[in-house]
Amino acid sequence: MYIDRYERIWIIISAFVLIALFGVLLYSYYGQGIHLETNVGQVLPQDVPTTPPFDNPGLHEIGPDEYDLVMIAQAWAFNPREVTIPAGSTVHFKMTSTDVLHGFKILGTTVNSMVMPGQITRVTYRFREPGEYLFVCHEYCGAGHHVMSGVITVE
Ligand code: CUA
Repeated sequence: MYIDRYERIWIIISAFVLIALFGVLLYSYYGQGIHLETNVGQVLPQDVPTTPPFDNPGLHEIGPDEYDLVMIAQAWAFNPREVTIPAGSTVHFKMTSTDVLHGFKILGTTVNSMVMPGQITRVTYRFREPGEYLFVCHEYCGAGHHVMSGVITVE
């Protein structure tokens, strides 16, 4: 079969790009350990109020400038919806939903996650700059979706 010289070159280049990108993928997974969080925990929606840590929602200091923030999402509010922390704090969010699929996005940060009934969501973020950080639900969850928000005050 005759293949034009330039066509052959481009076939080789595109095959090389595919192999290189696949190599990068393997390296990031096995070499750098970068992957989606899996199996971080489950809790039945009806058991949320009685299951630690969700039986005690809110901010809990666990070390110097380090906090656990246990948060429950339900139509159409976050509990707690207002939190105040000192600047430089590292916050470990532990979240779940008691009803439907919600989202959790903190504006101006890289925090952007889903909050699912039955599943526990864990996210860690360090708040370096003081300010008011609005967080919102970004998965449509019903009539009150647009009012489902809160604020983290970093001072
Ligand atoms: Cu909760 Cu949209």
